[in-house]
Amino acid sequence: MEYSEKVMEHFMNPRNVGEMEGASGVGTVGNAQCGDIMRVYLKIEDGAVSDASFKTFGCGAAVATSSMATELVKGKTIAEVMEITNKAVMDALDGLPAVKAHCSVLAEEAIRAALWDYSQKSGLVIDGLEEPKEHAH
Ligand code: FES
Repeated sequence: MEYSEKVMEHFMNPRNVGEMEGASGVGTVGNAQCGDIMRVYLKIEDGAVSDASFKTFGCGAAVATSSMATELVKGKTIAEVMEITNKAVMDALDGLPAVKAHCSVLAEEAIRAALWDYSQKSGLVIDGLEEPKEHAH
């Protein structure tokens, strides 16, 4: 299996690792097949993501996609974050092997779950956002 240089680089030096105190929203998702778990923390101020971080109990591609996804959402408005798909995360990493595509799906889901948590806590309705189907504990 071939990983791009960017995937390797984000795996070796992941950005935004760790818990966040006072996060506006936290989303935890898991993939039942591989058992990997991803948690994303978002700080939202004035309708935009001012900070993002993650923790993952997952494979190398899960680390790289979480790292890239948290980089991509920083500074974006909520509506812009809603546009970020797993494909965008994969593209930003110069692709992933097909068997690892689901790792990027986990990153997208974790971001959405964190937004969902934020919307629940703040009472803000986010267009197009659905309740996460699965919660990992
Ligand atoms: Fe499941 Fe990567 S193998 S998230």
